[in-house]
Amino acid sequence: MSEPIRFYYRGSTHSVDRSATTQTVLQHLREDLHCTGTKEGCAEGDCGACTVVIGELQNGQVSLKSVNSCIQMLPTLDGKALFTVEDLKNEDSLHPVQQAMVECHGSQCGFCTPGFVMSLWDLYLKNEDSAEKPQRKQIDDALSGNLCRCTGYRPIIDAAQRMCELPRQKFDRAALAGALQSLQRQESFSYSHNGQSFHAPRTLAELLALKAEKPGACILAGSTDVGLWVTKQMRDLGDIIYLGQVAELKQTKLKDGMLEIGASVSLNDAYQAICEHYPEQLTELWKRFASLPIRNAGTLGGNVANGSPIGDSAPWLIALGAEVVLNGGRGRLVMPLEKLYLAYQKKDMQADEIVEAVRVPLPAKNQIFRTYKLAKRFDQDISAVCAAFSATLNDGKVSNVRIAYGGMAATSKRAGQAEAALEGQPWDKARLEAAVAALAQDYAPLSDMRASSEYRMKTAQNLLRRFWLETRADAPLAAAAVNAFASATPAAVQA
Ligand SMILES: Cc1cc2nc3c(=O)[nH]c(=O)nc-3n(C[C@H](O)[C@H](O)[C@H](O)COP(=O)(O)OP(=O)(O)OC[C@H]3O[C@@H](n4cnc5c(N)ncnc54)[C@H](O)[C@@H]3O)c2cc1C
Ligand code: FES
Ligand code: FES
Repeated sequence: MSEPIRFYYRGSTHSVDRSATTQTVLQHLREDLHCTGTKEGCAEGDCGACTVVIGELQNGQVSLKSVNSCIQMLPTLDGKALFTVEDLKNEDSLHPVQQAMVECHGSQCGFCTPGFVMSLWDLYLKNEDSAEKPQRKQIDDALSGNLCRCTGYRPIIDAAQRMCELPRQKFDRAALAGALQSLQRQESFSYSHNGQSFHAPRTLAELLALKAEKPGACILAGSTDVGLWVTKQMRDLGDIIYLGQVAELKQTKLKDGMLEIGASVSLNDAYQAICEHYPEQLTELWKRFASLPIRNAGTLGGNVANGSPIGDSAPWLIALGAEVVLNGGRGRLVMPLEKLYLAYQKKDMQADEIVEAVRVPLPAKNQIFRTYKLAKRFDQDISAVCAAFSATLNDGKVSNVRIAYGGMAATSKRAGQAEAALEGQPWDKARLEAAVAALAQDYAPLSDMRASSEYRMKTAQNLLRRFWLETRADAPLAAAAVNAFASATPAAVQA
């Protein structure tokens, strides 16, 4: 049975029953509602002109997050709230975010401005109860998904601080919680249009039954890959099964000495949970993974399930010995993540299976572990090479050596020869160079638009040297000494 999509918008419940299952939130705003304040720049999550804020109930609390409306499909809004740049202003005054943008001259042509305003509003809401202005790092992170081609960022960063000096405007979370509560469904939600269906099961059992019934259906999680299949490749997705309402997939728990992260936990929440255990090793990668709106929408399950050879999570998950939990026709299977990837776009996964969770080992005694991302920009850029190294260092010798790279082969892959060159050996320069040489046997990387084969091999080798410089027993270097971003960023900006 098809039911209308219902979400909270502009103070009341908004119902939709005549849109395609793959219509984007942005298309609905601009083309159906004629609310053209929200802009389209790239239609692929890269520029931030389309940024909106989505509200939903998480464990009974209101959660508000910026996302890119150009790649979010409308039926995923069911039971949630949508806020756009047109909702901020009061009848007689601008919101402090907007007022600060005016005062600080944060806009020239104005095309990017609605997106910046919504990212700043998200930041404003996070700092609502703080008397302090946001830190520079927090501002940079909040704006990591917004591009401006004419104003330049300094006035916008000024506005991010100025907005918190103006008389505060409190957002009524209790009222929104009440509105959202009234939209919650007890049963799974299904919507169809022109013979295409969208299903949002609420439990794992319902999800598995649906996948068994429709093995060809497209699994949709955060839509940061799938959204582009629609907007850029004009693909027909057929039936869609959305994971965003399945309660069991949204949990993070400690189990058997591992951190088990449900497949639908957002990238931002997943990295936050993992970084509590690996703060020095993973925080930079977390902040460099795409942009905040992409991390708010995208999931760790999607990053692992898409099998991309340039995904940022697989290398460090493999180096740590993480496991993936599959569920479906073969029952519940737990396997080392590296075993999931068979060849380019080929996984050990059946059509009726889903990724249920990812299990990440906690730090071990005497473990040395680092991961490094090489991309042309600090944030919002896919890796050319991503490297991860883990080993146990005891009495100057390394064991349990696990090295994995993304961007070097058709899948994220371990470096068996380099690992063998190091296993049980002294962690010294001679052994390091033997492992560096062995990397040339482990990989034959491709040249593509991101990097040449030679660049990839050279940098992969240098990243292994960087790992050694940071972890060698004799005079290890501080992370900042081998980090181009840290050494190039003025102290005032790092604060
Ligand atoms: C602007 C932009 C920047 C990006 N930057 C990065 C980056 O820096 N690093 C990086 O690694 N990636 C990046 N990506 C890619 C993408 O954000 C990630 O791969 C993300 O983790 C995908 O998760 P998702 O939940 O959005 O997946 P979706 O788009 O919903 O799905 C992706 C694929 O996985 C399948 N799938 C999803 N969840 C499951 C599941 N639980 N079980 C089975 N199959 C499933 C879907 O069917 C689909 O085939 C970027 C994307 C964009 C648009
Ligand atoms: S239009 Fe560029 S991110 Fe959406
Ligand atoms: S003001 Fe013109 S792109 Fe930002």
